[in-house]
Amino acid sequence: MKAGIDFGFGQVKFYTESGKGKFPTEVKEFRKTSFVSIQKRTVSYGGKEYFVGEEAQSYSKGIPIVIADVERLIEYVPVFCRYLAMKGVKATEVVTGLPPSHMNLKEEMRKKVAEGFSVPEENVSVVPQGSGILLDVEDKVEDFILVLDVGFNTLDYVVARRGNPQLGEAEFEIEEAGSFHRLGTYSLIKEVESLFAGEFPELNTLLTYHDLAKVVRERKLKIGGKEYDLSEIVDRAREAYEIKLQGAIMRLLDEIKRCNTLVVGGGGAYLLEEEFLRSLHPNVVVPEEPDLSQARGYYKLLEE
Ligand SMILES: Nc1ncnc2c1ncn2[C@@H]1O[C@H](COP(=O)(O)OP(=O)(O)OP(=O)(O)O)[C@@H](O)[C@H]1O
Ligand SMILES: [Mg+2]
Repeated sequence: MKAGIDFGFGQVKFYTESGKGKFPTEVKEFRKTSFVSIQKRTVSYGGKEYFVGEEAQSYSKGIPIVIADVERLIEYVPVFCRYLAMKGVKATEVVTGLPPSHMNLKEEMRKKVAEGFSVPEENVSVVPQGSGILLDVEDKVEDFILVLDVGFNTLDYVVARRGNPQLGEAEFEIEEAGSFHRLGTYSLIKEVESLFAGEFPELNTLLTYHDLAKVVRERKLKIGGKEYDLSEIVDRAREAYEIKLQGAIMRLLDEIKRCNTLVVGGGGAYLLEEEFLRSLHPNVVVPEEPDLSQARGYYKLLEE
């Protein structure tokens, strides 16, 4: 099975001929001494047992593995691959990516994906994140494009130009790429957390980041049988986040001005107001299901 897989800090996304999906980037080590109900399934790797994704999220015991940097994420890639296989994504050929600023770890990533799915390393390609989104929307963009990928941890960007097909060049040539750290939706979630802590000090300790991410999406929270309307908090946090984002985007202003299409993908695109996006560029394209766009584009590379 061919699979485009996007290993993000917030979620792992996949796209194959038979389906697509995502799960939270969460891992908990399971120690045999702790009680576990039989419905939950673990993944074995390196002599240890792990709960992954939804299983990790719904299992309150176990030791959470903190995945805060790319090296750590790559280390746990085989665990995510085995979880994918358990979910029916038995990949034999994979295209995946790394943030543009971490392409030096490409070989390491290839090895770990190959190990996770037990396939030869030649069957795995690693491309810069952002190029997946670019391929996903290639029919909707003009010839000079800036792609913003608003992720959980980072805001990545890629500046690309359509190559000259007569010369037999690749369709797009990447001119420039980079990342702004700590400008993903995590920063928005932190803001929600601090506003929330101020208004409901008694409830704050009960929430994980994934809970808070859900609050940002649903704008309300049900706790102890009571529903809290958090629209105002979410709006205030989003405004603060958009100001931060605008600060980073200002540093890309030259690129934004030069390009004729601005593409905004990644899960963060769900959270940004259309008005804000239009204030950045007159021609903005947001891919369908923007968080899956990257994986869908990676998959496209396998079809060619
Ligand atoms: N349907 C949705 N509605 C609103 N927000 C969403 C939705 N899906 C995802 N998000 C938010 O977007 C965030 C980023 O999603 P995405 O999957 O693009 O990040 P990531 O690729 O895991 O992160 P990174 O690129 O930094 O590694 C999620 O953590 C969540 O907060
Ligand atoms: Mg991402």
